[in-house]
Amino acid sequence: MCGIIGIVGHTDVTERLVDGLKRLEYRGYDSSGVAVLDNGTLKRQRAEGKIKGLEAKLEKEHVDGQIGIAHTRWATHGVPNETNSHPHFSGRVGVVHNGIIENFLGIREELSHRTFETETDTEVAAHLVDEYLGQGDKPIDAFSKALKKLKGAYAFGLIIDGHTDQVFCARAGSPLALGVGDGEMYLGSDAMALTQLTSNLIYLEEGDWAVLTPTSYQIYDRDDNKVEREVTIIAGGPAMAEKGNYRHFMLKEMYEQPETIGRTLTNYIDEYRLASDMPAELDFSEIDRVIIIACGTACYAGMVAKYWFEQIAGVAVDVDIASEFRYRKPVLSPKSLFIAVSQSGETADTLAALRYCKEAGVKTAALVNVMTSTMAREADIALPINAGPEIGVASTKAFTSQLTALAALSLAAATSRGAVSEDEQHDLATALIKTPRLVKQALRLDDEIEAMAFEFSKSKSAFYLGRGSQVPIAFEGALKLKEISYIHAEGYAAGELKHGPIALIEDGTPVIVLAPYDELFEKTISNLQEVASRGAYIILVTDENGAKHTGDMADEIIVLPTAHDFVAPIISTIAVQLLAYHTAVHLGTDVDQPRNLAKSVTVE
Ligand code: G6P
Repeated sequence: MCGIIGIVGHTDVTERLVDGLKRLEYRGYDSSGVAVLDNGTLKRQRAEGKIKGLEAKLEKEHVDGQIGIAHTRWATHGVPNETNSHPHFSGRVGVVHNGIIENFLGIREELSHRTFETETDTEVAAHLVDEYLGQGDKPIDAFSKALKKLKGAYAFGLIIDGHTDQVFCARAGSPLALGVGDGEMYLGSDAMALTQLTSNLIYLEEGDWAVLTPTSYQIYDRDDNKVEREVTIIAGGPAMAEKGNYRHFMLKEMYEQPETIGRTLTNYIDEYRLASDMPAELDFSEIDRVIIIACGTACYAGMVAKYWFEQIAGVAVDVDIASEFRYRKPVLSPKSLFIAVSQSGETADTLAALRYCKEAGVKTAALVNVMTSTMAREADIALPINAGPEIGVASTKAFTSQLTALAALSLAAATSRGAVSEDEQHDLATALIKTPRLVKQALRLDDEIEAMAFEFSKSKSAFYLGRGSQVPIAFEGALKLKEISYIHAEGYAAGELKHGPIALIEDGTPVIVLAPYDELFEKTISNLQEVASRGAYIILVTDENGAKHTGDMADEIIVLPTAHDFVAPIISTIAVQLLAYHTAVHLGTDVDQPRNLAKSVTVE
């Protein structure tokens, strides 16, 4: 949430700062800005909306210097206009910030003799440092003193008029990395922003702050003690992902799924032994419970995993939304295994849940796509999904890779606990190995689903129903639709609809029913009929066997390839992704960067 980057060097920085911002745009795109010291004088350029707006402004009126900071914003406090865009200035100070300063109102009152220009929480940080400078403090003291006053979460980059060789930065609650260059130093919200500039990264720890000059860096801990932090070498910076011939990143990423699922599998399934292949430190044999915590789409992957772990491995699973987990003071046992599921590995609430469990002495694992992320570094065991960079804000390939990895983990748990025979183990491993091919087949329904989406896109609201492990896919289908088409949608357990929401069904209300031909098929079809008889417009998502048993009960039918029950939720996902995507395209929304969203949510 919000991306920041800074450079202190010996050549002009603006172009590189803007390039870094583009890599961080997934964190927010409400507005962006850059500030530099031009011959020692603070100058900035800012623009509402996406980074291309900033580029256009810079083209008209360029600002540059050999030291600078830049920001792409996901608005928390204050509407996303140019005034509220970072960098914020106060007197001699320019600042960019990611996070939320929780005590900003109190500080504003204390500094009521000063003029505040914005509605943001961030501006107080610039004023505080400027206030201390005015009282005669040296920049380093002013910065460290200001940090002590601020409560909440932050990653800061800060420059001071006249101080052309110093960038100040700090981290508490929001991620921040330093980059060590040749005669230049960098700071950035994540490795992604910096890998084009250097491969030598330092991840700041909680409460750390630092002063960067072109040729040196000094890190301090929260008590102002000088500290050393390890330099990590990141091999070869990833090139900016390209859309290729695809209209959107989301479409490209959906089409990558046969390959990305295959990559996930190579990590966790041994194709020769037809068995799971897990890191040695992941021992399921002694645990009493799995706790899966995540946000958004990743949480739905966790909900599917609950069915798998409980049905196949006989292990109890708690799944919770990360923002609720720690505040309900969960009862934890040291024999539990905590699994954070997160594409980015940075989501603030999921990270907080991980730390909460670590502190309670629970063994922690992080299932992530970004192996340089904070969660991957802090968890006892980092489990990669290897889906490659996901650029579309609405998660697709990361979700199916999370599902794949969790399925393999449940198989590992079943094996180590003796809950499956060797034959069953081979059967489940084989089902997983076949998944990429089935996903490829499901993607061939693209044109058919696109045609259905035309009528569907006229809807004001929709329901998604399923039973068993299809319930979380119903949730995910509804979420995908909401996120990118802005059509209101709800996912429900098919049996639950009659306990209230069925009152909303009227002539033509679209209901997407997920019903592969499994042991719950007939029950789901009964629920389908309950809504059909009340006028619902039914889109049935089933498989070849299911289609044979439903005749013309549905208005539209999506026939997926027949899959083993174990992996059926992964295959149904493809249908709901394509439906949401084509609906959004028909409606002309910004599919890859939908309004109000950000890909990585680093505030609570
Ligand atoms: C945001 C994204 C979602 C994502 C969720 C969790 O809301 O828009 O697509 O599922 O965060 O993100 P994570 O990186 O933790 O998986």
